[in-house]
Amino acid sequence: MSKKIFSGVQPTGNLHLGNYLGAIKNFVELNNQKDNECIFCVVDLHAITTKQEPKELKKNIRETAATFIASGIDPKKSIIFNQSMVPAHSEGAWILSCVSRIGWLNRMTQFKEKAGKDKEKASIGLYSYPVLMAADILLYDATHVPVGDDQKQHLELCRDIAQKFNNDFNAPGFLRFPEPLIQKEFSRIMSLKDGLKKMSKSDPSDLSRINLTDDKEQILNKIKKAKTDPLPMPSESNNLSQRPEVENLLGIYSSLVNQNLEKSMYEFDGKNFSEFKEKLSEILIEKIEPISKEIKKLLNDEKYLDGILLEGSQKADKIASKKIREIKELVGF
Ligand code: AMP
Ligand code: TRP
Repeated sequence: MSKKIFSGVQPTGNLHLGNYLGAIKNFVELNNQKDNECIFCVVDLHAITTKQEPKELKKNIRETAATFIASGIDPKKSIIFNQSMVPAHSEGAWILSCVSRIGWLNRMTQFKEKAGKDKEKASIGLYSYPVLMAADILLYDATHVPVGDDQKQHLELCRDIAQKFNNDFNAPGFLRFPEPLIQKEFSRIMSLKDGLKKMSKSDPSDLSRINLTDDKEQILNKIKKAKTDPLPMPSESNNLSQRPEVENLLGIYSSLVNQNLEKSMYEFDGKNFSEFKEKLSEILIEKIEPISKEIKKLLNDEKYLDGILLEGSQKADKIASKKIREIKELVGF
């Protein structure tokens, strides 16, 4: 059976190795499978749930689209567009927010993390963010949603929202329940400076992440400075839980060469960290540098990128506007 794939990435700058290994690499594989219908969205409406500088946002929308293409998503095969160009996302989010329960949203851990200590000062958009995400997915009848591990809870909420809508409006099967596609291994890439913290766009230290726009020198430098520990390279998986930085670096290596962790541990058993880091840098440069160069090249051609987003939005709008009409009909508008 062909899959309908939908996923989104926020245009908030600094797309990094975590985004690549946790999500975008998977997008590319799905794009390459013959029968899949894929839609990849630059979720600019989600981006403004935290404050964005308008000029930066515009630049980041293009950069996210460029990253999709540079990573290997073919815009002729998959739809690439930005969310704000398709009005059904905002309309759908409003209607679904009237179905969603406050109690459900109160359980969302990402809001708690992002809002920090002073929740009263967080935007309402940041709180209702997962409802907009549900609208994104449900408007396209997506069957599968490739995401990193941190989005699992939002997908469970999406299914709850779909079910409640179908029940409330007596429309069994109308909104389709999506399946998350989360990598079994290495679905959460951690900071290069702290193995207990997620690699993140917003970490103030650039040394904590490999950006997809980093060049060879930056990658070498960041891996050289990446935190390890004073013990030798491990030989068994069971002692890695106490060594988060080492586990993370080995996980990154394994994911890039497509092998399991045990195999990588075997490969570096008894070797020095410097030798491992050299190999890790090598493979990172091999995989990331071509993407980085291609992103920079594409960014010089704003017309091309804007054309891709416009064309993608028109195709997306055709699908989403039909679904929103049906939703409105069911609601009684
Ligand atoms: P965002 O940048 O928050 O829009 O995330 C885009 C995609 O990257 C989502 O599917 C996230 O789950 C994924 N992602 C973000 N950070 C990481 C990370 N450190 N490890 C793995 N996946 C990640
Ligand atoms: N919330 C996701 C993130 O921060 C981005 C996103 C928005 C998304 N809408 C989506 C992902 C729909 C998958 C499907 O990473």
